[in-house]
Amino acid sequence: MFGRIDHVGVAVEDLDAAIELYSRDFEMAEQHRETVEAFGVEAVLLEVGDGHIELLRPLSADTGVGRFLKRNGPGLHHVAYATDDIEAALERVKAAGLRLIDERPRTGIRNSRVAFLHPKSTGGVLTELVEPAH
Ligand code: CO
Repeated sequence: MFGRIDHVGVAVEDLDAAIELYSRDFEMAEQHRETVEAFGVEAVLLEVGDGHIELLRPLSADTGVGRFLKRNGPGLHHVAYATDDIEAALERVKAAGLRLIDERPRTGIRNSRVAFLHPKSTGGVLTELVEPAH
């Protein structure tokens, strides 16, 4: 169902400081930056092999990532698995009894199609399915 880990999402308060860590200290190339209004974030993708680190800065406190930061502080936010067919993957995890946050795919960063699974049904790990744009 999943081809690889597409990215790991990290919630940050200070985007510039986080980019310094990942690009200067960890020597990952900054690949893409985008404000994704639908998710209330400014996101930066950095390359690591064929996967990414996705830094997420909330656009306001009243967003998913904003509330996460208030509750938990900066840190790991979600894991995203790549799939070629997000509808089929959603059907399969739904049939397996997992709770979906998104019943249908939404448009995510770089025109990918994404859907989140509820952490209550995934052992506390916010899990994202992503079908990259072709
Ligand atoms: Co993500």
